[in-house]
Amino acid sequence: AVVGVAALTLAGCASGSGDSGSSAEATEPKTMKLALNQAQDHPSFIALEAFGEYLTDATDGRWNIEVYPDAQLGDQAQYVQSVSDGVIDLAVVSAPQLENLNDDFVVFSLPTVFDSIDHQMSVLSDDEAVGDVYASLEDSNNITVVGGLTQGARSIYLKDKIAETPADLAGKKIRVQESPVFIAMIEALGASPTPMAFSEVYTGLQSGVIDGAENNEISYLTQNHYEVAPFFSFTRHLIGADFLISNTDTLNEMSEEDRAAFDEGWTAAWEQHTDLWVTDTDKAIEDATAGGATFEEVDSEAFTEALTPLLDEFITTDSQQALYDAIRAGAE
Ligand code: GCU
Repeated sequence: AVVGVAALTLAGCASGSGDSGSSAEATEPKTMKLALNQAQDHPSFIALEAFGEYLTDATDGRWNIEVYPDAQLGDQAQYVQSVSDGVIDLAVVSAPQLENLNDDFVVFSLPTVFDSIDHQMSVLSDDEAVGDVYASLEDSNNITVVGGLTQGARSIYLKDKIAETPADLAGKKIRVQESPVFIAMIEALGASPTPMAFSEVYTGLQSGVIDGAENNEISYLTQNHYEVAPFFSFTRHLIGADFLISNTDTLNEMSEEDRAAFDEGWTAAWEQHTDLWVTDTDKAIEDATAGGATFEEVDSEAFTEALTPLLDEFITTDSQQALYDAIRAGAE
């Protein structure tokens, strides 16, 4: 009975939306809402806007994307729920946001897993390595992971000083993403983790609720964190991953041809993003320095050494181990 009702509703929609026929092509154009917590000068916004333009063009306007930057649609934890519910169609979320849904996603956030951005992006676009984990939330949560975007290397920045070694973090309250791995990481460095949404970090630093945070150079600049925490230590403790997630039902509404256009546009988008990442990182360092920030090379090996035990602590299941092995097999 349920199937029957759905079929009738669909038939009703198709015949109601155009007089010229009932093919999928005749249905109303669709605009997918894409939620992003980054600013408009961040490579993710730029590449995703281009993705939208490509899609509109390639599908003759049948499918469109409207990007909502600056956390206009809330924070990433909400994006996961909203994409699952179909309230929004697409969102960019950091890997830790998916850990609760499938703990295999933990592997993407561990130190030393990725050797470089190139290694990371070749794995994140390799269906054999990540296809299963990307599809793993479809039945349970109605979420498809479309693909990955690099966050580059993450480093620690403080309000009052450069951290040469983990010892300099003693007693410091460091903002982390809402995730057990990131909490454990800051604890392993001897500091106190304070989980907080990305959009709240600037005020947290300004008011002194936190003493520092960890992120890449581009977010450090584009979120203006350098204004309130001007000491950036190149700890490069891990290479982070973002994922573009989609409501699965929305993707399934696309014709085969439109889905192919979507996939092609996405590939062009992450490639552009990866290229932009390199140039924008240099520019972010330059601009933040001009704005008063100090960047310093520090004893990054000491940080990595303190964090290495997390691999054993967090890779505990066979599927996590298999994903880790697949990622490492893609390294040089
Ligand atoms: C990076 C990442 C974001 C994430 C943020 C954070 O900027 O690209 O997706 O939200 O870090 O630390 O929360």
